[in-house]
Amino acid sequence: MSAAYEKLQNCLKSVRACTDFVPKVALVLGSGLGGFAEQIRVVYELPYSLLEGFPVSTVPGHDGKFIFGYLENIPVVCMKGRVHYYEGYSVSDVVLPIRLMKLLGAEILFLTNASGGVNAGFSAGDLMLITDHISVFAPNPLIGENIEELGTRFPDMTNVYDRILSQIIAQVAAEKQIPLQKGVYAQLTGPSFESPAEIRMLQALGCDAVGMSTVVEAIAARHCGMKVCGVSCVCNLAAGLSPEPLSHEEVQAAADAAAPKFTALLYEAIRRMGA
Ligand code: HPA
Repeated sequence: MSAAYEKLQNCLKSVRACTDFVPKVALVLGSGLGGFAEQIRVVYELPYSLLEGFPVSTVPGHDGKFIFGYLENIPVVCMKGRVHYYEGYSVSDVVLPIRLMKLLGAEILFLTNASGGVNAGFSAGDLMLITDHISVFAPNPLIGENIEELGTRFPDMTNVYDRILSQIIAQVAAEKQIPLQKGVYAQLTGPSFESPAEIRMLQALGCDAVGMSTVVEAIAARHCGMKVCGVSCVCNLAAGLSPEPLSHEEVQAAADAAAPKFTALLYEAIRRMGA
């Protein structure tokens, strides 16, 4: 058994010592988007800090706990707060929570994040359905000994973001008249924001939004056979596209402002996914 799998099994045992809850949908709430958790009828809350070896976030605005409960009658596990590679964790630790949620029973992974808008047609506060990603600027989470128990050595990444789940999200947005951009998300390591030259490079590569998370999680989830979908909250125009300097506070304020439409979209989309 690989060391990474052994660690995962230990975390699984610790969770199972606390709860036998079996989620269908796993949800990762990004920076400033944690308020969605209030929608969940909570059965059990588990702070990450109680799980031995589990990565714990150091970023303000990232609470750091699993919330097990129901959204209507759909069993969900929600990560309120995630860890980022820039915090110094190995990328294998960064994706451990995703693999853990799979082992707990989750079939669907709904990823959310705060991002910078790279597409010049985007505005701060837009929501973007993630249709594809660019992973080459972040370390691949599958590097190292393959965890055979989870998946194959060379997983296909043709359709990372599930077509049917993405259609549900787009359909709900249309019905609720929530404007929804669609595009390609690139993960860079951070923690510094990008330079204007880097943003021009990302534009040339066909990228629409940039952030510091999500892609490594999506890759790990596909590797272990989860269905994946994602929505990004474009919290600011990326460097060089607006005269303002970027700040974490601005990102949080924009995420707060987008919270009502974000919550409405997620709630109904997850309800239909679980049906
Ligand atoms: N760049 C990278 N990550 C981000 C940004 C950005 O402009 N905004 C929010 N997260």
